[in-house]
Amino acid sequence: MPHASDDPQPLTASPGAPLRGALKPPGDKSISHRAMILGLLAIGETRVEGLLEGDDVLRTAAAAKALGAGVERLGEGRWVVRGVGIGGMSDPAETLDFGNAGTGSRLMMGVVGGQPVTATFDGDASLRSRPMRRILDPLVKMGTEVVSEAAGGRVPLTLRGPREAIPITYETPAASAQIKSAVLLAGLNAPGTTTVIEAAATRDHTERMLRLFGAEVAVTPHGPGGHGRAVALTGQPTLRGTDVIVPADPSSAAFPLVAALIVPGSEVTLRGVMMNPLRIGLITTLLEMGAEIERMDEREEGGETVADLRVRASRLKGVAVPPERAPSMIDEYPVLAVAAAFAEGTTRMAGLHELRVKESDRLEAVAAGLKANGVRFEVQGDDLVVHGDGAAPQGGGTVATHLDHRIAMAFLVMGLATREPVTVDDGAMIATSFPSFLPTMRDLGGRIEA
Ligand code: S3P
Repeated sequence: MPHASDDPQPLTASPGAPLRGALKPPGDKSISHRAMILGLLAIGETRVEGLLEGDDVLRTAAAAKALGAGVERLGEGRWVVRGVGIGGMSDPAETLDFGNAGTGSRLMMGVVGGQPVTATFDGDASLRSRPMRRILDPLVKMGTEVVSEAAGGRVPLTLRGPREAIPITYETPAASAQIKSAVLLAGLNAPGTTTVIEAAATRDHTERMLRLFGAEVAVTPHGPGGHGRAVALTGQPTLRGTDVIVPADPSSAAFPLVAALIVPGSEVTLRGVMMNPLRIGLITTLLEMGAEIERMDEREEGGETVADLRVRASRLKGVAVPPERAPSMIDEYPVLAVAAAFAEGTTRMAGLHELRVKESDRLEAVAAGLKANGVRFEVQGDDLVVHGDGAAPQGGGTVATHLDHRIAMAFLVMGLATREPVTVDDGAMIATSFPSFLPTMRDLGGRIEA
């Protein structure tokens, strides 16, 4: 994974005073991408509030525009998308450059793959290394032509969609909301029912938002123990533009949350954090570890439950995190590994194979970061086992981030509480998901410097 940005920005986090204060984390990345995409496919105007204005989402907004939508920023987090309707897209004049964004690129492949347009997808060195076959395989069954692709089914690649997609029933080979969503989005232009079967339930934002825009989506439990889902979409609906309120992203909230737990004496309140049950595996796990996290003022916002979370520095203990919890906290393992390094006892995180195909090989990147900072751990197959003694790890290391925003933020959080400062080689990618991370952490009293 020898990837670095064009303009690497090393950052160093140092231990210091307790973190104090309140903040609202940025808008949810998954929902922000989907708001842009369904806005493109709807007829009429979609008004979005609280959009995450991170680089990943801005790339999706630019792609929606290139495919024919009117996309306009009205103010901070406030956007309007004027859609073209299903079947109304035009060939983009240029390559759709998704930068670092796996979600944006894969969901948009589903959109293009199901409709009569031709588009080329590309991205940065991280995206160019990520597997796209998992998206292309079902799309080909639905009638998409893969005009060209880089070796191993990667971007840059060009797709040409059919006049109408073929409705299919597809069992996803991995627990991935991106695969599920790409198939459903292609199914929007199929005459009949497109069904996705997943062995474990993954985040359901596509299903929820499709319904909000007027599509019919039936969801039924599937498989042993009802852990899986069958998601059936009735094709060729008329999607109508609507208002979307984006709640705060639990995956971004995770960083100040864990920081508040490990920096002694801290007390931090995170406001309006989305509590979708398919997204809060980290909170479940931290509570099991003994974290003091109070869920306050639960309310509905934009069709999701949100809550304020009051977090106090806590003595954590090691736990076993079962593999079936992985889909509900897939992006949170790097920062959970950091929390585990401060806990007393052993934390076993099982079934992490999907971490290997994120923005970096996150299992390898986390392992290298833990090693550089004196944490005892083992990688056993796809399990990560972290040993703590309840005291702050040594720190003092430099962590290679491999163009991965979550590796950068996780280890900066660590450096706020280790005995010696922690440096990350490049913080540039933090802008993809949490552009206000540095000022936010500094406002709380965290010392993070260039
Ligand atoms: C996402 C799904 C997850 C997650 C990613 C966002 C989404 O990826 O890691 O950050 O918005 O659908 P997979 O579907 O590959 O697990």
